[in-house]
Amino acid sequence: MKNDIEIKTSTDNIDFGEVSEILNFYGLSDYGKEIQKQIFQNSYAVVFLKKDNRIVGVGRAISDGITQAAIYNIAVRDSYRGKGYGKLIVDELVKQLTGCNIVLYTHPKHIGLYEHWGFSRLHTAYARYIDETHYREEGFID
Ligand SMILES: CC(C)(COP(=O)(O)OP(=O)(O)OC[C@H]1O[C@@H](n2cnc3c(N)ncnc32)[C@H](O)[C@@H]1OP(=O)(O)O)[C@@H](O)C(=O)NCCC(=O)NCCS
Repeated sequence: MKNDIEIKTSTDNIDFGEVSEILNFYGLSDYGKEIQKQIFQNSYAVVFLKKDNRIVGVGRAISDGITQAAIYNIAVRDSYRGKGYGKLIVDELVKQLTGCNIVLYTHPKHIGLYEHWGFSRLHTAYARYIDETHYREEGFID
């Protein structure tokens, strides 16, 4: 508990309408609550931050649970940003991924943030996106 923040690491009793609202607000996803529920339930590690019974931050990772993991969908409600909650979510995910190499990609506007949080820039990353045009326009790929 940090400043009355409750850290939840399971999908039980989570309102995925709220999860969907937070992720869609930032354009990190455009899925509705049912699909979002499936996405988080199918993930290896999840973190939800709750304050006053409201979800204020989310994050998840996919992993084999032994050696490799990838972090996705880190987001904090707009009015709660800049209070250390983003770092808290990442730290909680990292705890659940002990022993794993962890990769992630961030939005071009957040380059620098993850170095600040102890991650190193990858020199050899490649991606194959379903919607390449979107990722090219957003500056993820050349
Ligand atoms: C990115 C995001 C999750 C960060 O969460 P947050 O709760 O605002 O971040 P925190 O308060 O935990 O950490 C901010 C810290 O990172 C630093 N920081 C922020 N942006 C930075 C940047 N571009 N480069 C370096 N440091 C940065 C801040 O100075 C602060 O440092 P401090 O802890 O030493 O004071 C949040 O802003 C968010 O939800 N953004 C929109 C959703 C999004 O784009 N998510 C995708 C991220 S991959």
